[in-house]
Formats: sequence, structure tokens, C-alpha cells
Amino acid sequence: MATHDYRIDFPILNPQNNDKPIIYLDTACQSLRPRQVIEAMNRYYTKFPACSGRSNHQLAATVTRLMDEARQQMARFLGASRMEEIVFTRNTTEAINLVANAYDFQTGDTVLIGGKEHNSNLIPWQMLVKRRGIHLKILPPLSDGSFDLPGFEQAISGGVKLVSFGYTSNLDGVTLPVEQIIKLAHKRGALVMLDAAQAAPQRKVNVRALDVDFLALSGHKILGPSGTGVLYGKYKLLDAMNPFMVGGDTVATSTYETCEFLPVPEKYEAGLQDYAGVIGLGEAARYLQAVGFDAIQKQELLLNKIMTEGTIDMQGLHLIGPADPALRSGIFTFYIDGIDSHRIALMLDQMANICVRSGQHCVHSWFNANGIKGSVRASAYFYNTEEEAELFVENLIKIRKVL
Ligand code: ALA
Repeated sequence: MATHDYRIDFPILNPQNNDKPIIYLDTACQSLRPRQVIEAMNRYYTKFPACSGRSNHQLAATVTRLMDEARQQMARFLGASRMEEIVFTRNTTEAINLVANAYDFQTGDTVLIGGKEHNSNLIPWQMLVKRRGIHLKILPPLSDGSFDLPGFEQAISGGVKLVSFGYTSNLDGVTLPVEQIIKLAHKRGALVMLDAAQAAPQRKVNVRALDVDFLALSGHKILGPSGTGVLYGKYKLLDAMNPFMVGGDTVATSTYETCEFLPVPEKYEAGLQDYAGVIGLGEAARYLQAVGFDAIQKQELLLNKIMTEGTIDMQGLHLIGPADPALRSGIFTFYIDGIDSHRIALMLDQMANICVRSGQHCVHSWFNANGIKGSVRASAYFYNTEEEAELFVENLIKIRKVL
């Protein structure tokens, strides 16, 4: 199917009452949701708004079945060998926090991360430095944003417990050579976690083929509901760890003094879950697989080329990341000398209904390290059209002329 066929599924792209259509170029923040996902969530609230795995009535049985189906769907989506390896979380941030707090890190252990990680893959480790006395090592990217493989080989040689990298950067769209990273890390005895929040929307992720130990993703970037996410973990690792958040639904039984934890994944899913969200997430994965990652990548590249080539000569514009759009997925991040990035974003919105993100994109550490105040990020997806990318360029040129 072509982009135009998919657009019909996204309510916000089909405004009623002659409203001016939105040009949504902020998918790296959150993707839009197709009606199939919205309807799946509504079905939960209208037809079977009950608990999963607790009550014994017909409504609860439906929810339990649909929760299992969603878990199976996510296991297939990620190529996991068993559905128990899928832990539902609220987002990538919670998934990374789960590993940081549930894995038995000891004083003196080293965790290695990249130099342009999202705060989600930085702050949990900073907390472990304070609380458990781990060492946190940072591997900066090369000057064009690409991965420093020789630097990694050196950094990993000194004994590292866990390597945790953003698979695809939400800042500049660069995807890491994760196959090589994982092989090298395992050779040195390190575990590997991938923050796949930005990779999962645009490439087939196969945890078994990668042999990755942990992987986190967010529902809101893959057409799914906000407040949903997944932690994938190899069964033996999840099984060996102690839960981070505990309480209802994590235990088989308890006395006043003790408790007996349920097996994986239940022991990690404390409290009543976002059933509508998880069911919607399963639907989102189904939808995304039907679109197909080849088609997604093709459209992202086409649109990123238009945005990049259309603005390459703009006076004072600095691109963040490699010059070649093929290396940046759907992401085009830039700043213009002397112009506040928030001002550019506001003007794009006011002049042409173009939604982009401005600021530091939760990667404050990279901006601070590089002395850059902020940037504008346009992020395109398969539901965006060439006309929209062209309008972005046209309006940016107009803005540049007046500022
Ligand atoms: N990680 C999200 C972004 O990049 C919030 O905008």
C-alpha cells in the first residue's frame, strides 16, 4: 500500500470541518496512532473493562486471553523465543530502570553507555553510581555522530558488567552496529542492553538473532498507546533477578513475614496493568508488521532527503549527525546560528501547522558536552508525504529570511 492508503487510518491526518490539516513531523517524540489501535483500546473499555488473571468471570477471561495474545504478539514482533521473556512496562524508561534496579550490580562494577544517550539510559546509571558505587563509563560518538568501534573495543577491554546503548539515536537518527557491539561485548563477558525506543519503529528487531540480553522499547513510538512499553530479557537473566517494584500480582502467596514470587514475567508486573494499553500495543505491533519495515525505511529516506537537500545551503544551518540522510532514518535535526530553536518550531507551527520538536530532546548531556543550546528536530514516518516534507523546507526558508 502507498502512504496515502495508510493516512486514512490516522484520524488526525483526516480532519473534519475543513480544519487545516496538521503536518506531523514529530514521530520521534511519539508516533500517531491508527484507528485500529484506538478501537482496540476502546473495545476494552466498552466491552470487557475487567481485570486480567484475577477474577473468574467471562469479562476477566476475555481480558486474560487478550493480554496473553498481546504478549505473544510482542514476542513475535521482537523474535523472542518465549512470551515469558516479554515484560510489560510503562515505557522504555521504566524498562531500563527495571534492569538497573533488579540486576545484582555490585560496588565496583562498570556500566558502559554512549555519549548521546537519552536521559532514560543515563540517569538510572548515575543513580547506581550513587547508591551502589558502580563506575559509569561514557563512550563519546565520533564527530559526525557515528559509533566509535575502535574506541568501544578499547573501552570494553577493561572489564565491563553491562553495555547499554541506544540502538538508534533519538537525537540524530544514527543506528549503531549492534551485531558487532554485542559480539565484542559477549567476548569480553559483558551483558548488553539496547534502548530500542527509536529503532523499533523503523527496523526489524530480532532479539534472538542479535543475541542481545535485554532490550527496551516504548509503545508510543511504534503506533501504540502512551504509557506502554516492553522489557525483553533472556529468560535465565529475568528468572535470576529479583523484582524491582513489588506488590499485587507479583506473588503467588504471602504471610505477614514472607512472600513467594510468581515466575517471570508476572513477578515484574506489579499492580493492576494498563490492559487497554497493552491490548492496543499488540494491535500496534500487528499494524506495523503489516506496513513492513522496508516500506517504512524507504519513505523515511525519501522524506529525509527532501528535508536535508532542500536546506543544505541555508546560511548558518548546522546539521546534527552525519550528512548522508541514509544514516539518519527519518530524523533531521539542526540548529541555525543565532536563532532560538523554539522560535523556529513555533513559527513552523503558526505559519503552516507543522509540528516539530525543539530543544535538547532529553539528551541534555550531549548538548552540554558540546556547548550547543538546542536544536530543531523534524522526524518523518511512513504516513508523511513528499508534499509535507517540501512544505517543511519552504517554510523553513521563509523563516530564515525573516529571522
Ligand atoms: N524520546 C522522545 C523524543 O526524543 C521523548 O522526543
